Amino acid sequence: MLDNLLVPKINGSNLENAIKHYCDRLQELSVFRFLYNVEITGFLSQQLAEESYKIITETITNGMKHSKGTVIEVYVDIVENNLQILIEDNGMGFSENKVSKKSLGFTSIKNRTSFLQGELNIESRKYKGTKVSIKIPTS
Ligand SMILES: Nc1ncnc2c1ncn2[C@@H]1O[C@H](COP(=O)(O)OP(=O)(O)OP(=O)(O)O)[C@@H](O)[C@H]1O
Ligand SMILES: [Mg+2]
Repeated sequence: MLDNLLVPKINGSNLENAIKHYCDRLQELSVFRFLYNVEITGFLSQQLAEESYKIITETITNGMKHSKGTVIEVYVDIVENNLQILIEDNGMGFSENKVSKKSLGFTSIKNRTSFLQGELNIESRKYKGTKVSIKIPTS
């Protein structure tokens, strides 16, 4: 069961369910409440599906590990040939320039996004939570 959660085989057709399943399991296993709206209709390459799953799970993990919040919201959909990802928590926020260069999570999120020619935007304010939005072209 845990194996399924940690290393599911992701592709364009099961990404939507994999993200929902990930959120459902984490809601069972943690104190966080997950609100999600994930709708992926349209073709996603294997590579885009796999990479975006890693981006999404790392961003969610960061919210759980660091935010000290209670709710994580996850929105994923395709709008005009872009995969749009929005992950928001209601925690304490942080300042991006204080993040250590050695932090692997953000570095990998940034690298994967730019490899896929996407855009990453982080909005975070003290005690106002963190909003991570990512837009990646699907073709
Ligand atoms: N949602 C969030 N709320 C508050 N702080 C955050 C959030 N996301 C990231 N941070 C801050 O940014 C830092 C960098 O995150 P990053 O994912 O790069 O490293 P990490 O999670 O500490 O370690 P790892 O390399 O295992 O991911 C975190 O240590 C934390 O201080
Ligand atoms: Mg991290």
